Amino acid sequence: MAKYRICLIEGDGIGHEVIPATRRVLDAAGFDAEYVIAEAGYEYFLDHGTSVPQATYDAVENTDATLFGAATSPSGIKPAGFTGAIRHLRQKYGLYANVRPTRTRPVPGAYENVDLVIVRENTQGLYVEQERRYGDTAIADTVITKDASERIGKFAADLAMKRDKRLTVVHKANVLPVTQGLFLNTILDHTKTVEGLNTSTMIVDNAAMQLVRNPRQFDVLVMTNMFGDILSDLAAGLVGGLGIAASGNVGDKFGIFESVHGSAPDIAGQGISNPTASILAAVLMLNHIGATELATKIDNAVNTVLTEGPRTRDLGGTAGTEEFTQAVIAQLK
Ligand code: NAI
Ligand code: MG
Repeated sequence: MAKYRICLIEGDGIGHEVIPATRRVLDAAGFDAEYVIAEAGYEYFLDHGTSVPQATYDAVENTDATLFGAATSPSGIKPAGFTGAIRHLRQKYGLYANVRPTRTRPVPGAYENVDLVIVRENTQGLYVEQERRYGDTAIADTVITKDASERIGKFAADLAMKRDKRLTVVHKANVLPVTQGLFLNTILDHTKTVEGLNTSTMIVDNAAMQLVRNPRQFDVLVMTNMFGDILSDLAAGLVGGLGIAASGNVGDKFGIFESVHGSAPDIAGQGISNPTASILAAVLMLNHIGATELATKIDNAVNTVLTEGPRTRDLGGTAGTEEFTQAVIAQLK
């Protein structure tokens, strides 16, 4: 029997390219796993009328962790019965922390010595998807609770204490004192009790500018759902872009690991997507389930190939998904 059971969900678009590539890398690294293949996403919805079938819930619940590709959410329309697959899974399994590390990798144009983590609250805010329209007026609810704010604040503080002991709470409590204020003050109430933690606060618009001007000032940043979604793409842009940015959705019981990028319909099916983000999501997954040596081995192999090439097009190279994947596999052998 394999030591680990892993659920694999390709999802949509380039998920069909980066997940198989990642699996081959895991195999080449000698990861002792049995895979349960599951489906989710917009393509599945169009064929079956639901984005996440029961078999996928079973697979997520009966494995040690899930590796997810990407899922499309069509813009500006909400087909009857559709829910965004990954947002649904985050909610259903209480995966309240979306952990998005941003670390300098050896790629052209990357800021040097960046090493920060964005911790995004993953279940609330505007992403509760409660929207209504009254004639020409549209309204969206944002939901912030004290419990969820405390939970994510504790998570971020714990993470910061394992790192450089610096936490920045990013917020917009100046304009939204009730919702953002609850988030901010609840977290500050907690961090006051954490000895040795250096906590600061920053308004989100300034945080966006500071990330671009001087990302090295940050260690761990915590923020509500939509701010985390946006600033983590911005942070990815500092160190090489979405082709290399990975994330983990973690809760008390389950973990779903995925790239920060989406289904990339503009390049899907062409064999040119960069699988690095997905491979590094697998590295986060391995660390999460305790296979830390293997995680380091794969991380090192990726860094070697990023340094020596071949590189994919998003990083200025000419390699396709296959050539890059083969190069990582060759490093592992
Ligand atoms: P995207 O992240 O899919 O793509 C943004 C840009 O980055 C595109 O130009 C794309 O070609 C490029 N890119 C992304 N990943 C790449 C990779 N691995 N290698 C090379 N280039 C890469 O974001 P976009 O286009 O805004 O959204 C497309 C769809 O994905 C939408 O339906 C959106 O809802 C969904 N989405 C899903 C996410 C998820 O499943 N977690 C996250 C973000 C978007
Ligand atoms: Mg996003």
